[in-house]
Amino acid sequence: MITTREGSRHVTVRVPAKVNLELNVGPHRADGYHDLATVFHAVSLYDDVTVEPAADWEVVAAGPYAEQIPLDESNLALLAARRVAQAGGVDTPVRITIDKQIPVAGGMAGGSADGAAALVACDALWGLELSRPQLDAMAGDLGSDVAFALTGGTAIGSGRGESLAPVLARGSYHWVFAISEGGLSTPAVYAECDRMRGRRRIAAPEPSDDLMAALRSGDPQALGSALSNDLQEAAFSLRPPLRDLLAAGLEMGALGGVVSGSGPTVAFLAADAEGALDLAVALAAVGSAPEVKRATGPAHGAHVLSHEMTRGR
Ligand code: C5P
Repeated sequence: MITTREGSRHVTVRVPAKVNLELNVGPHRADGYHDLATVFHAVSLYDDVTVEPAADWEVVAAGPYAEQIPLDESNLALLAARRVAQAGGVDTPVRITIDKQIPVAGGMAGGSADGAAALVACDALWGLELSRPQLDAMAGDLGSDVAFALTGGTAIGSGRGESLAPVLARGSYHWVFAISEGGLSTPAVYAECDRMRGRRRIAAPEPSDDLMAALRSGDPQALGSALSNDLQEAAFSLRPPLRDLLAAGLEMGALGGVVSGSGPTVAFLAADAEGALDLAVALAAVGSAPEVKRATGPAHGAHVLSHEMTRGR
C-alpha cells in the first residue's frame, strides 16, 4: 500500500491485469474499431492507484514501469478522475499516484486498469456512490478494456470489448507471463491484422464452444488447448521473436500459450503452481524474455484497499 502524507485523506484501489483467453476480431468498423468476441480473464498482477485531494490535478508514477507512464492529460486515470468529478459536481483536484506492476503497452490492459481504478477511487474519496451502470458507462467511454477491469473475474466481451456478460467458469489457473522489452501499440497491431487479412471477407466474431466447455469443466489441459488470439499473427509480424518465445514456452511444458491481447506479453498456462514455477524458472534461465512473472486467475476487479482519514498516526 502507498502511504500518503500524514493527515491527508486518501483512497487506494487495487486493480488487476487481464489476459484474453480468446480474442476473435471481426471486420474493421466505420468508427475505426473492430467488433470482438473475446473472453477476458483477470489475473493477480495488480496496479495500486491512490487518490488524495491536492492543489492541482497531478499524476505521480511509482514502481518498476514508472518511467513509461504518460503523466500528461492523456493518462487514463487522470481522464477518469476528471469524469467522476464532472459527474459528481466536484471541483477539488486530486493527486493520483499509480504504483505500477502491470507492464505498460504489454497487452495486459494496464492503462485501462488505472482508468478503472481511478473511477472507483474518486467515487469513494468524494462519497458519491455512483451507480454501477454510471461507472460502466464512463468506463466504456474511456476505453474498450476499462469496463472489464472494473468487473474482473472471467467474462465475455462483445461490441468493441466494453459490453460484458458473465461466463460460467470453474477453477483457478496458474499463469506465467513472458514480458518483452518495449511495448506494442494496440492500434498498430489491429492495423497489421487488417493488412494481413487484405480483402478477405471476415465473419461476425463469436465465442468458441471449445473454450466455453473448457471453462465449465475447470480443466487446465482443456483450457490450454482452447486459447486463441486473432491478433497473434499480427503481433508476430511486428515482433518476429515472439513466435520463438511462444514455441519455447510450449516446448518447456506449458499446457498452452497465447499472445496476450495486442502483445507483446506472451501468456503460458501451467497445470498447477509447481508447474508454473518450473516454467518460469526455465524461461528465465534461457533468457527467452527479459522478465517473467507468475500470476493466478481469475482475480477480483478494481476494489478499494484502504479508505481512511490518517490523522497523524
Ligand atoms: O478502446 P481503446 O482506446 O483501448 O482502443 C485502442 C485502439 O485499439 C483503438 O483506437 C483501435 O485502433 C484499436 N481497437 C480496435 N477494436 C477494438 C478495440 C481497440 O480496433 N475492439
